Amino acid sequence: MTRGLAIVGYGKMGQMIARLAPEYGFAVRATFSGIDNSSARALTAESLQGVDVAVEFTHPEAAVANLQRLAAFGVATVCGTTGWFAELDALKRRLNTNGGGLVWGSNFSVGVNLFREVVAEAARRFAREESYGAWGWEIHHAAKKDSPSGTLLALAETMKGSGFAREISLSANRAGSAPGTHEIGFDSAEDTITIRHTARSREGFARGALRAANWVIGKKGVYEFREILSELA
Ligand SMILES: NC(=O)c1ccc[n+]([C@@H]2O[C@H](COP(=O)([O-])OP(=O)(O)OC[C@H]3O[C@@H](n4cnc5c(N)ncnc54)[C@H](OP(=O)(O)O)[C@@H]3O)[C@@H](O)[C@H]2O)c1
Repeated sequence: MTRGLAIVGYGKMGQMIARLAPEYGFAVRATFSGIDNSSARALTAESLQGVDVAVEFTHPEAAVANLQRLAAFGVATVCGTTGWFAELDALKRRLNTNGGGLVWGSNFSVGVNLFREVVAEAARRFAREESYGAWGWEIHHAAKKDSPSGTLLALAETMKGSGFAREISLSANRAGSAPGTHEIGFDSAEDTITIRHTARSREGFARGALRAANWVIGKKGVYEFREILSELA
């Protein structure tokens, strides 16, 4: 059965999601861009007719208003926009997800999420070895707004959560068109250990978001992408 998809934010990610949507059983019913949707005003009962789920990849300043409005119309949503997560707890309290669930994530690549599990295990082991310092580094294309990336911040949180209590030195570069590289390293007087994930394109993020979109239809509540990873079709 074909399901209706709305694409909120028709930039690099939105266009890739539109291209791949038919492979996941979706028909694109509506697309919304920055120019016609300031303060989420283009999201109406009429424009969302026939929409089972929306994917939102916009700007940090636009995401919260879009998510509130989509929830108000009962539309299940997958949000990949980064740079607004400090507002997540406040949003969860305000959001009425009785009508449709929300999946959010700083990174919809399945590979990055498995990489995060590897980093957690490495941090747990290196935490016991006092002579090792740690760093995290990322590079993205010049147009990416937030820095460091939400993914790097999440990796650092994961390391702390695994018991790595020493400083983790974080840095970021913005240049060219790199779709995203993240590296975690441990360094001692004797050796260096690096663990790196390099995205080849945005396709991995788009495919993860579309799998999450299929999963969230019919769900209620707010979920982080990595929580539902093992349930994805
Ligand atoms: N979670 C993940 O896996 C993942 C992966 C890749 C990217 N991202 C994040 O996703 C977001 C988008 O990335 P991108 O590479 O697609 O960026 P992009 O190419 O700049 O696209 C963003 C689009 O959103 C539009 N927009 C802005 N405000 C809007 C609004 N109120 N309603 C509808 N559309 C609006 C922009 O239109 P205008 O140009 O007209 O303003 C632009 O076309 C960023 O936050 C990025 O960090 C996340």
